[in-house]
Amino acid sequence: MSGALVLRDLVVSRGGRDVVRNVSVEIAPGEVTALLGPNGAGKSSMVLAVGGVLPLKGGSVMLGERELARRRPEHIRRAGVAIVPEGRRLLPGLTVEDNLRVATYALSNQDAAAGRARALELFPELDKRLGTQARALSGGEQQMVVLAQALVSAPRFVIIDELSLGLAPVVVQRLIPTIRTVAESGVGVLLIEQFASVALGLANRAYVMEGGRVQYSGSAQELQDNPDLLHSAYLLRGLGDGGSAGPTDRVPAGG
Ligand SMILES: Nc1ncnc2c1ncn2[C@@H]1O[C@H](COP(=O)(O)OP(=O)(O)OP(=O)(O)O)[C@@H](O)[C@H]1O
Ligand SMILES: [Mg+2]
Repeated sequence: MSGALVLRDLVVSRGGRDVVRNVSVEIAPGEVTALLGPNGAGKSSMVLAVGGVLPLKGGSVMLGERELARRRPEHIRRAGVAIVPEGRRLLPGLTVEDNLRVATYALSNQDAAAGRARALELFPELDKRLGTQARALSGGEQQMVVLAQALVSAPRFVIIDELSLGLAPVVVQRLIPTIRTVAESGVGVLLIEQFASVALGLANRAYVMEGGRVQYSGSAQELQDNPDLLHSAYLLRGLGDGGSAGPTDRVPAGG
């Protein structure tokens, strides 16, 4: 896939155990790619390793000809890959304006101003909150600032770990069109999301991880049309090999 961010054969070890095992994912520019999977599947570990925060034991992260695996987080960000880690917090005592400034400190004044303007265009709600301390914001407003922080540097790819974590459904509904707008502007989005319907409604392609491995990759539409594909992936671990929801029960795609 030309221009994609290509994660290949990633291996991440935590506590002496491989929690991401030969995972390969392609993130296309201008599209939303969904990454689903049950708790403990290894999604966040993979994200942190791609972002240079956790060590990568194996694999490559290619952006065109550039190898980003095992580079420092600042290098990865500068190359155009922004990460929104799970549970990212703002600096609570700083204003929205200053939280945004923290995210643009490495940019030229011109790029910082352009990034700030773009972020406020995506999240006009923040305009009147610029002087408010982050701790006084609603959960939805905080998530907007977190997303804005990732987007101010005009990344080519953004990886969002748990968009809707702790947010009311109405807030999630507010964020969805913005994610779509970001992708339509040419950015490749990898969206990790506990609510499969939210992610699949936005996504072109989808991956399901379970037990550190990719159990499904294909079109988001196929997954949406065949919930059994998703359920069997999620249930495999709990049922073991004696379960009734094994791979043979999957609904064939396309009728
Ligand atoms: N700090 C840690 N030290 C050791 N093991 C960890 C650590 N954090 C997570 N793990 C383990 O790594 C595995 C993958 O966890 P990870 O958080 O990557 O999964 P996830 O798919 O993001 O799950 P969730 O949907 O709950 O966010 C799990 O078995 C988890 O127990
Ligand atoms: Mg996680």
